[in-house]
Amino acid sequence: MSGPAALALPVGDDGLAARLRERLELVEVALAGHVRSRAAFVTETASHLMAAGGKRFRPLLVLLAAELGDHPASDEVITAACVVELTHLASLYHDDVMDEADLRRGADAAHTRWGNHVAILTGDFLFSKSSELTAELGADAVRIQARTFTRLVEGQILETVAPQPGEDPLEHYLEVVAGKTGSLIATSARYGARFGGASREVEDALTAYGEIVGSAFQLSDDIIDIASESGESGKTPGTDLREGVPTLPVLMAQASTDPADARLLELLAGELTDDALHAEALDLLRKHPALDQARAYVVARAAEAKQQLVAVPEGPVRAALEAFADVVAGRTA
Ligand code: IPE
Ligand code: IPE
Ligand code: MG
Ligand code: MG
Repeated sequence: MSGPAALALPVGDDGLAARLRERLELVEVALAGHVRSRAAFVTETASHLMAAGGKRFRPLLVLLAAELGDHPASDEVITAACVVELTHLASLYHDDVMDEADLRRGADAAHTRWGNHVAILTGDFLFSKSSELTAELGADAVRIQARTFTRLVEGQILETVAPQPGEDPLEHYLEVVAGKTGSLIATSARYGARFGGASREVEDALTAYGEIVGSAFQLSDDIIDIASESGESGKTPGTDLREGVPTLPVLMAQASTDPADARLLELLAGELTDDALHAEALDLLRKHPALDQARAYVVARAAEAKQQLVAVPEGPVRAALEAFADVVAGRTA
């Protein structure tokens, strides 16, 4: 089985952790079936990133949120967990083409093996599979999934265009992040609460939590892209910089008026496709106070995410959600 050895969310309660692990196994088996095609080649390309690994954090969030309802082990919960991971997986195939990234989940990105056309169409295949599965959950679930993917795609597209004249670059970027990542994490929490049978109040609170913690997760991923060494993340560090995507630490560095930052600002204003210039910019950014400023921002967003949980009854599920926000806050330290 290719599933993760440890849960991607810190779960303090042993009984809860055991139930989640058991259901995650069911999700894993179901996912392996959902990525199958009648064409062997498509099965090969579509299984590639699933087999390579991944934290399965979104399906786990579905399963965890479902524990706040009265039927957390229902078939619909497992189906919803598969839907969000398949949607995520589809977006990874597309993202690696966009970002020209060669490494994903510690494996070759799909486009490096099979070319852009196959990678993009495999993403489409996975998204279709996800939509077909969502239909089993009813029209509302389909509408939610469609709106989620609309926001995800809008976020991905807006990342490639400069802010409008008069638009604050940081605001623009935060909107990108909420769209491309916050949206699907919010939907994971919503689906879990809804199909597990939680109240509407709890569902809405969890959705708000997911949106903010998901955005914080993306911002921490941006910091890791700059601060981590190759191999730690299963991705190639410095990819955002090379692609000219100004993420949170870059935007914060660009706000500097310190003359000592002149060289960094000059580099950031130009193309960073040249290896030597890219390495120089990465090195300067790693030493820059903007990195800690970005970390502090993530910590504040994680705290804001936890505040959304006041309507959620206290207990092991809420504690796990809070602990996850703490992990997001701390994972760039
Ligand atoms: C990667 O998501 C894309 C982002 C939104 C940052 P994950 O970090 O959840 O990736 P996997 O699923 O574990 O590979
Ligand atoms: C990915 O954003 C977001 C989606 C896949 C929708 P990034 O491009 O920052 O994520 P990584 O670093 O490649 O995982
Ligand atoms: Mg990427
Ligand atoms: Mg990207």
